[in-house]
Amino acid sequence: MEELKRKAACEAVKEIKDGMIVGLGTGSTAKYAILKLGEMVKEGLDIIGIATSLESERIAKQVGINVADINEYDSIDITIDGADQVDDNLNLIKGGGGALLREKIIASCSKREIIVVDESKIVSGFSFPLPVEVVKFGWKRTAEKLAKLNFKPRIRHGFVTDNGNYILDCEYDKLENVEEMEAEINNLPGVVENGLFIGLASEVIIGKKEGTEIMRKIK
Ligand code: A5P
Repeated sequence: MEELKRKAACEAVKEIKDGMIVGLGTGSTAKYAILKLGEMVKEGLDIIGIATSLESERIAKQVGINVADINEYDSIDITIDGADQVDDNLNLIKGGGGALLREKIIASCSKREIIVVDESKIVSGFSFPLPVEVVKFGWKRTAEKLAKLNFKPRIRHGFVTDNGNYILDCEYDKLENVEEMEAEINNLPGVVENGLFIGLASEVIIGKKEGTEIMRKIK
């Protein structure tokens, strides 16, 4: 599995060129991209990284990538990030690592959002528990509201996001009308963001045993 993740990440970094502002994703697959970019920087590649988490910022700095604050740049050329599941329409569930809020802000400011996954993440219907970032205040009440939308929310024990919030991992029987659901969840008081990424991925690079495959958004 690690080899498939690495293959997808190494394919994605081929798109990164001198002078680009690059969004650095979070998770075990995106980490391979950061490590590869670090090697390329040592060989002379000149980029600025914008990290989607404190952990990715730490890794990026360790491998010699210049990391800047997103407030300093009004857009990002390419972001390379992972996902927990990808459906046929290139919609995603993200947030397994708890970085969904910063990941979504950065995805929404990126000209290209390249998602890197191993083949096990490609699904025709979502099943991965949906991570929802909620403020600490009244989180049990927010969980009750999510339950009314037919989710079964579980608090992620011992975990606080980079933004000082909690994560509720929400199981469900079937996740349909994802666009409406993304908005409906975010409309609940107490919810900061949820892990449904709708229409944000421009392409998905899939690491497979026999190589890599690209799924592209139909414009
Ligand atoms: C981080 O919060 C997530 O959105 C990750 O991008 C996602 O969980 C994929 O991580 P892995 O590449 O480790 O599976």
